[in-house]
Amino acid sequence: VKIDVFFTPAGVSQPDVQGRSVVVIDVLRATTTIAVALHNGARAVVPAGSTEEALRIAQNLERDDVLLAGERRSTRIPGFALGNSPHEFSSDAVRGKTIVLTTTNGTPALIAAQGAREVIVAAAVNFGAVIERCRGILEERGELMILCAGRERQFALEDSFAAGRLTKVLLPEGGLRKVQVNDGALASLELARHYGERWLRAFRASSHGQALVELGFGADLRLCAEENTHMILPLYADRRITTNRSTNQG
Ligand code: MLT
Repeated sequence: VKIDVFFTPAGVSQPDVQGRSVVVIDVLRATTTIAVALHNGARAVVPAGSTEEALRIAQNLERDDVLLAGERRSTRIPGFALGNSPHEFSSDAVRGKTIVLTTTNGTPALIAAQGAREVIVAAAVNFGAVIERCRGILEERGELMILCAGRERQFALEDSFAAGRLTKVLLPEGGLRKVQVNDGALASLELARHYGERWLRAFRASSHGQALVELGFGADLRLCAEENTHMILPLYADRRITTNRSTNQG
């Protein structure tokens, strides 16, 4: 069994992901927001690499069915219906809609994973569903890649901690002796050891978490830190994120 953790998508290219199963994590906040949106009945989330691309994609969709969403410096892009706060993605706002989403770090990480065999969108809110699928992948294929969004092409504590939590849960009996891991996975396991199950503590320690609190998004940190509140498995394929499995809809 082999588990690799990459701390940012910088340097990750097509050949690195091709044929692999990739878990993408941007727990503050894009992957949390995507899980919440789909759980609340959005039809799909389409990641866009830029504001211009988001506008272009939206133009080609039915106007009534599409919502533009995204942030720059964590704040809603002017003219867009929604920002990137999971609290905005209520079922009233998103049910039946296709959301075109562009964010600073989350959507570039998703786009970097395009071309992989399978791309899983992971956060704390859907952690249990992600674990279940990852166990299946490790049984079927014996290897997994975990890709953190990071922050502006740099290491981000919150995503790396989440990657460590996931790696720890996925370790087979016999632990590290039974699995091949890269240095990223080893370092992320140390973070998981340090913070344990205390997602919120890791978020509050992170620079991104602190910046969000300063901008008034403290409640987002709490929502993003709650495990298994939105138990769905969003999968990114053919340029859109959808889920065909959901429990506890609405
Ligand atoms: C991102 O995708 O860059 C983040 O989710 C930024 C944010 O917190 O809005």
